[in-house]
This record gives sequence, structure tokens and C-alpha cells, in this order.
Amino acid sequence: MKLLHLDSSALGGHSVSRQLTADIVAQLKRQSPTLEVRYRDLAAQPLPHWAPLADADDPAAILGNQVLEEFQAADTVVIGAPMYNLSISSQLKAWIDRVVVAGQTFRYTANGPEGLAGGKRVIVASSRGGSYHEGPYAAMDFQENYLRAVLGFIGISQVEIVRAEGLAVGDRQKTEALASARASIAALTPQRARAA
Ligand SMILES: Cc1cc2nc3c(=O)[nH]c(=O)nc-3n(C[C@H](O)[C@H](O)[C@H](O)COP(=O)(O)O)c2cc1C
Repeated sequence: MKLLHLDSSALGGHSVSRQLTADIVAQLKRQSPTLEVRYRDLAAQPLPHWAPLADADDPAAILGNQVLEEFQAADTVVIGAPMYNLSISSQLKAWIDRVVVAGQTFRYTANGPEGLAGGKRVIVASSRGGSYHEGPYAAMDFQENYLRAVLGFIGISQVEIVRAEGLAVGDRQKTEALASARASIAALTPQRARAA
């Protein structure tokens, strides 16, 4: 079984989402030691923004194909997704623009779009300074809600969220947020093989 581990926080060693994705992957690996892990750091090695290409030998085309292939091969994808200005980081968006591809991971039909990437498990490590999962700011959550929507668009309905929010509110809230995220990680179920 293959796991793709992605980070997209620009904060390096101080990043909460990076800490959480590392803990998630460690937990799944403990449960399934044969899990093959592929790592991609979308902040340290940012992908170029999507653009039309002159030919298939273009390095951006080759990299784009590699990114799409490693996504398609993965049974599980662990995504570190900090909230930046109510949404995801542009580094993560550049990755999404490489994997949401008509004819590959979804197609348009007479009955509307159809996802072709179903069967994968996605675990999102969501970190944010404020709180959005309920209350007056819930309607401004274009990070978790966007990820669920775009992954659903390509057929992925199994999206689990490990959330640490309210990180900038105060020390007590940060400690509670991290404890809550760690409890979600401890409760993750072992990876099962994808249905053929
Ligand atoms: C550019 C930038 C924009 C941010 N925008 C928001 C925001 O809109 N809402 C929020 O709650 N926190 C916001 N934050 C705070 C981050 O979500 C928070 O620091 C989180 O821990 C970042 O994840 P990381 O620790 O993995 O880098 C922002 C942080 C940065 C650097």
C-alpha cells in the first residue's frame, strides 16, 4: 500500500500542520509497517503554477505528470493544509491544479462531472489561527470546505480532518487544539487495501 505525504506550510520547523502530518504518517506506519511512503514538500520545492505548455518535453510537463502519477498511485494521501487568508496555501493550490485533470481524475458527462479518483483515503491536517468549525466564522472556511469539495469533485469522499484551530488565540487554546488533534490522530483507523 502506498501513502503520499504532502506538506505545504511555509513555516518549516515551526509549523503545526507539518508536526501533525508527521504524527499521522508515523501512526499509520506503526499500524501498517509495510506502508510505502512518498514525501513531497510543496513549500520547499514549490510546483510551478499551471500554464499551457509548448511541448511534452517541457520540464514543467514532466514534473506535472510525475505529480499526477504519484497521486494516482497512492492509496492514502496525507495533506498538511494551513489556513492562509481563509483558504489553503497557494503552494497546495498549485498541487491541486496538477492533480485535478479532466480525462484523468474526473470527466464531464451528460449528467455532469464524474470523479475518477475514488477509493483513496485522504487525511487533512488542518491548522489555523482562529476557529471556524462552528460559530460565526464557519461560513468563511474556504480551506477545509474547499478541500472536501475539490476532492469530492474527483470522486474522493473519504476525507478525514485532523484539526488544530484557535492556535493564535492564546496559550491555553493552542494547548487544547494540539491535544484535540493528537486525540484524532490516535483514533485513526489502520490503512486498508483499496477495493480493486
Ligand atoms: C499568510 C498567512 C495567512 C493566514 N491567514 C489566516 C486566516 O485567514 N485565518 C486563520 O485563522 N489563520 C490564519 N493564519 C494563521 C495560520 O493558519 C496558523 O498560523 C497555522 O498554524 C498555520 O499552519 P502552520 O503552523 O502549519 O504553518 C495565517 C497565517 C499566515 C502565515
